[in-house]
Amino acid sequence: MDPLALLILASFWFIAPAYAANGFPPLMRGRMPIDGKRMFRGTRLLGDGKTWEGLIGGVVFGVFVGSLQIFGQDYLPQEIAGLPRMSFPIVFLLTIGTMAGDIGGSFVKRRMRMKRGDRALFLDQLGFLLMAFLFVWPLYKIPLDIMIVLVLLTPIIHWLSNVLGYWIHVKRNPW
Ligand code: CTP
Ligand code: MG
Repeated sequence: MDPLALLILASFWFIAPAYAANGFPPLMRGRMPIDGKRMFRGTRLLGDGKTWEGLIGGVVFGVFVGSLQIFGQDYLPQEIAGLPRMSFPIVFLLTIGTMAGDIGGSFVKRRMRMKRGDRALFLDQLGFLLMAFLFVWPLYKIPLDIMIVLVLLTPIIHWLSNVLGYWIHVKRNPW
């Protein structure tokens, strides 16, 4: 297999639990805001876009996808051998880091007086990714080339998936 194609495949393989955790919450149509509608210095702490249902759904789906990878990784074709080896601690940290980044992003957006759903360049696209990196780091030193591929490709994937989510009416805005 072409080395660049293999690198991109390895990158998506590694980050799949984080993408799963980040993409699932809109499908939950949650109603219970994590901040309990509490205010912080005059604005909502997190806002109605961060719900318990979304948080739990994201963690469960991220761990589910990671579990499929863990159980499937020994049965992959020989041509794509050498993908990052997944484990439950890695999957869990990727998933929790993703949700922490998502929630942290909303916290920052509210402090900047941005309304729910307002777009925040970099924060929306890369906040969850960088927090996922940070959380797994103690257990797995992510290869630099994988990190670079993900930082470059995630904004594109994020944008594409949000347009899709908007089309299928699970997202309020196409971003
Ligand atoms: N969502 C949720 N719980 C979460 C994360 C997301 O219920 N923990 C749902 C909400 O319905 C949210 C939608 O997924 O509106 C899209 O997520 P996101 O873009 O992260 O939230 P925004 O609505 O853009 O809110 P914010 O401005 O706070 O980022
Ligand atoms: Mg948003």
